[in-house]
Amino acid sequence: MEITMSGIAKAFGSNQVLRDVNITFKKGEVHALMGENGAGKSTLMNILTGIHKADAGTITINGTPRTFPNPREAELNGIAFIHQELNIWPNLTLLENLYLMRPKKNRFGLIDKAAMLKEAEAFCEELGIELPLTAEASTCSVGQQQMTEILRVLMLDAKVVIMDEPSAALTERETATLFSMMRKMKARGVAIVYISHRMEEVFNECDTVTVMRDGHTITTKPIEEITMDEVVRHMVGRSIDEFYPERTTTPGDVVLSVQNLQPKGFKHDISFDLRKGEILGVAGLMGAGRTEIMRAIFGVDDHHGGTITIHGKTLKTKKPEAAIKAGIAFITENRKSEGLILDFSIGSNITLPNLSDVCPSHILKTSKLRTFAETLSTKLGVKTQSIDEPASSLSGGNQQKVVIAKWVGKKPSIIIMDEPTRGIDIGAKRDIYDLMNELTNEGVSIIMVSSELPEVIGMSDRVMVIQEGRVAGILDRQEASPESIMTLATGGV
Ligand SMILES: Nc1ncnc2c1ncn2[C@@H]1O[C@H](COP(=O)(O)OP(=O)(O)OP(=O)(O)O)[C@@H](O)[C@H]1O
Ligand SMILES: [Mg+2]
Repeated sequence: MEITMSGIAKAFGSNQVLRDVNITFKKGEVHALMGENGAGKSTLMNILTGIHKADAGTITINGTPRTFPNPREAELNGIAFIHQELNIWPNLTLLENLYLMRPKKNRFGLIDKAAMLKEAEAFCEELGIELPLTAEASTCSVGQQQMTEILRVLMLDAKVVIMDEPSAALTERETATLFSMMRKMKARGVAIVYISHRMEEVFNECDTVTVMRDGHTITTKPIEEITMDEVVRHMVGRSIDEFYPERTTTPGDVVLSVQNLQPKGFKHDISFDLRKGEILGVAGLMGAGRTEIMRAIFGVDDHHGGTITIHGKTLKTKKPEAAIKAGIAFITENRKSEGLILDFSIGSNITLPNLSDVCPSHILKTSKLRTFAETLSTKLGVKTQSIDEPASSLSGGNQQKVVIAKWVGKKPSIIIMDEPTRGIDIGAKRDIYDLMNELTNEGVSIIMVSSELPEVIGMSDRVMVIQEGRVAGILDRQEASPESIMTLATGGV
C-alpha cells in the first residue's frame, strides 16, 4: 500500500497546526517522521487515520483519493496506529486489552478465552516477547502495556503501521524486539511510519526521514543522504553544538540521606546521599527498580525499615504529603495517569499543587494565579496559544513540560525527576537542561532517573547505578562513562 498526503492543512481554532504537508509512505519502507514538540507529527497521523479531519489537502491510497471517517474504519482498511500515549484499559487483563475490539467467540457465541490465550501466546512466542497475558494491565509496567498495544496492532496484519514514539517506554530488550518485529513487517511489505525523537534509532532503523517544522514538511531524504546535524538544523532552525550545558554548581552539604531503605518487594536495601545543588543521575536497565526506589522515598509505595533524612530531619510518615512538606517534588515518568488532569486547562494544571503557596490567605486571586502559571509556562517554553486551553490539546512533549512546570512552581528543595526528557524534542531538551542548571545554582538538588546514558553522563555530578534492586555503585562525574555505567548496570564489577 502506498499513501500520499498532499497539501494537508489543519487548524485548531486560530492555531494553524499544519500548513502544507506533502509526504508519501511506501510499501516496505520505514519512514521516520521527526520534528520539534508541537510540529504537527501526531496531528498528521490523526488526520490520516480519521481521528481529525483535514481543512485542506488530499490523501490518496494507491493513487485513489480516500479518507476515513474514524480510526476503526482506517484499521479495517489496513492502517493501524500505535498512539503516543498508552491506550490500555487498566482494569482489564493484557489479553482482554488485546481482543477488546474483536473478541473470539466459541460456537455458543460466548467469549472463548482459551482460544484467545492460545493465539496470543503463539504470537508472543513467534515474536519473542514475554508478557504476563492474564495479569491486570494496571499491575504491569508501562513497557509491558506498550508492548501489548504494539502486539495488538501487529495481530491485525496491517499494511501500514504508524508508531508514535513507541520506544519511549520500552526496556532495551523490548526495544530490540520491536526493531526485529519492524524488520519482519518491512520484509512482508508493510509500510511503517516511525515517529521518534531518538536520533540513533532513526539512523539505524529507518530508510527515509521527513523533518517537520511549524506544520510544514521541510525535507524528505533517504537516510544515507542526510546527517544527524542536518536533521537537527532542519528541526530547530539552528544547530546545537554544545548539547549539554556546563555544570557550574559545586555540591554542598548533604540535604537528603537515605539509609538502609528497603522498598517493598526488594531483597536488598538502599543507601545514598544527595547534596545541595547536586544533580545525582540514577542509571540502570529498565526494570532494575529505579522508579520503585523513588516512589518509596516519596511515600507513594511502602517500604520496610531504613530512614530518610531531609535537611537533618527524619521523615516520620510514609506519605507523599510528608515528603512534599519536607520539600521534595516528584516528577513522574507516567504523565498521563499521574502527572496531568487532561481535561483541566494548562493554567489550572500548573497552579493546582501551588494554590496555597501563591495565595497563602486561602483566598484565590485569579490574576496572581494567572501570572504564576504564565511565567512558568513561558519559562519552560510550553507551546500553546493560551494557558486556558485544556492540557489534552497539547502535544506529548509539551504536556511533559507542564508536568515539570507545576512542580518547579512549588519551589521544592529536592526534585526527583523520572525520565524528565522522555518524548521531549532536542531543542526543548536543552531548555530543560538549562533549567536544571539554573535550579541547582539556586541551591535545589535534583535526582534524575534516566535511561538515556548521554543525558546521565552529560548532566550528573554523580551517577548512582541500580542493578536488580540494589545500588551497584556510585560514580563520580569523571568516572562516569557508557562503559563504566553499563558494566555496573549489568552486574559486572
Ligand atoms: N485536539 C487538539 N486541540 C487543540 N490543539 C491541538 C489538538 N491536538 C493538537 N493540537 C495542537 O497542535 C499542535 C501540534 O501538535 P502535535 O501533537 O501534532 O505535535 P507533535 O509533533 O506530535 O509533538 P510531540 O513531539 O510533542 O508529540 C500543537 O500546538 C498542539 O497544541
Ligand atoms: Mg506527538
